[in-house]
Amino acid sequence: MGKKALVFLLFLLSLACSTVNDLPRVSQNADWKVKRIPEYPQQVGGDAQKGLDYLIYGDYIGSGIPLELMQSNRVSSDTVFRREGPNGQLPYLMTTFEAANGAQVVSGNCFTCHAGELDGQIIPGLGNSFSDYEKNWSQMASMMNLGMRVKFGKSSKEWEAYEDFGHYFKAMAPTIETNQFGANPAFRLAEACMNMRNPVDLTYQEEPNYEIPAYPIATDVPPLWNVGKKNGLYYNGVGRGDFTKLLFQASVLGIPDSTAARKAVIQFKDVLAWLEQLEPPVYPKPINQQLAMQGKLVFEENCSKCHGTYGEQETYPNKIVALKLVKTDPAYAEYAFSSGIVDWYNRSWFANSSPRSFFEPSLGYIAPPLDGIWATAPYLHNGSVPTLEALLDSPKRPTFWSREEHATYDYEAIGWIYKEEKNANGKRTFDTTLPAYGNKGHYFGDELTKTERESVIEYLKTL
Ligand code: HEC
Ligand code: HEC
Repeated sequence: MGKKALVFLLFLLSLACSTVNDLPRVSQNADWKVKRIPEYPQQVGGDAQKGLDYLIYGDYIGSGIPLELMQSNRVSSDTVFRREGPNGQLPYLMTTFEAANGAQVVSGNCFTCHAGELDGQIIPGLGNSFSDYEKNWSQMASMMNLGMRVKFGKSSKEWEAYEDFGHYFKAMAPTIETNQFGANPAFRLAEACMNMRNPVDLTYQEEPNYEIPAYPIATDVPPLWNVGKKNGLYYNGVGRGDFTKLLFQASVLGIPDSTAARKAVIQFKDVLAWLEQLEPPVYPKPINQQLAMQGKLVFEENCSKCHGTYGEQETYPNKIVALKLVKTDPAYAEYAFSSGIVDWYNRSWFANSSPRSFFEPSLGYIAPPLDGIWATAPYLHNGSVPTLEALLDSPKRPTFWSREEHATYDYEAIGWIYKEEKNANGKRTFDTTLPAYGNKGHYFGDELTKTERESVIEYLKTL
């Protein structure tokens, strides 16, 4: 066996070992089946345009790598937001801004994860389900640190504006490596960065606050246009209280301290206003209106109590459904109970300074609003089901399925055109046999007749 093959085998073995044993188990005898998330006061009166501008030009990550390092390999320009100035020469998912000491730095922005490609078009607010975090990020972190030391030296302005980013990138690198194509480890990223921050003033500390569970859990990325309807954020409804503080969370990757955080979070009132007016894309093909009308009745009979009603009388019940009722993969909901992040968050600046936000985990998942659901495949919190047709007819769900790099959309089954595979060996193959990525549960569509299911899918195209 060649050396490369051996290294690869060892790598696979190490993954296999860390997958099965390290998933924490939580007792599930909760005595509730469905609970309502209460409404919390939110900040109003923000300016939506200013909010979008802040997301694509703003300094909310606080630190980053020097712009001059990007200069030599600027490969693409911003064809999505068509930004002005130096940002116009960066891809839409990166932002250059001035750090506190005046150095011009670059880092990723929210649209790395929150803009998705659909039939060749990038849609801001659609989750990116094609990101691949299966790489080893630790090497990149070490190389970046080394490169910065050699090129600029530790007493430079550039180093000062990079140091925080460098610390947190290094801390998160080993934890965000996933074992599933397309799965997004944002929760682990936050967990790793918060782990190295003093909860009160958010400064970097050498000593970790808690132990991070070994299993590399990750999820699909939800669309951003539902925020306006939701009382709590995230798949498990753990995000409560003031949304500006919750939205600001990605900043733990680089923001130096609570003084910088206090300044940046004010702008999130505008970001919230932008999110609240964001609309889902409209289904672009013809719809059989008569069938859709039948589907509306079936939907209101079978689905509305959890997912709400649409059209003239919009209602959304904001329900968390217990694992024992929805029966989808429990690992992500359980994970929040085994991680130190919940306790850290509730003792931190995020929870103890005004406006307050806090974490309240549940052994269940939010029944999400279904606006624009036609565009948001793959389905379920873990992205394990490629189409709506398969979601509503569980025997059709593939165990292993793969997509092309720039996959096209299936406007009949609603979702990604995929190939059913015999195993998970191929490229971009989703493996539903891995812990946390099971495709079981949500059997509510199975109870319908074939015609009823078809009509519901036709109706869902109209939302
Ligand atoms: C590394 C990828 C990544 C980045 C960067 C990122 N997010 Fe997210 N975001 C996610 C993932 C994954 C989730 C789903 C986590 C969950 O629900 O448990 C999420 C959830 C959310 C939600 C909750 C949506 C809902 O319906 O509950 C909001 C709002 C949000 N992100 C806004 C932002 C904003 C604003 C930024 C930039 C400041 C940002 N995100 C940066 C990956 C990312
Ligand atoms: C008892 C409450 C309940 C009922 C009834 C219900 N759902 Fe759901 N639904 C949920 C929950 C909870 C989730 C999230 C599960 C997860 O992600 O693990 C969900 C997820 C979904 C999703 C995927 C959302 C996404 O973004 O991936 C779709 C689509 C959906 N439901 C459609 C329906 C339809 C259509 C019906 C009626 C036939 C229905 N549901 C009935 C609770 C319910």
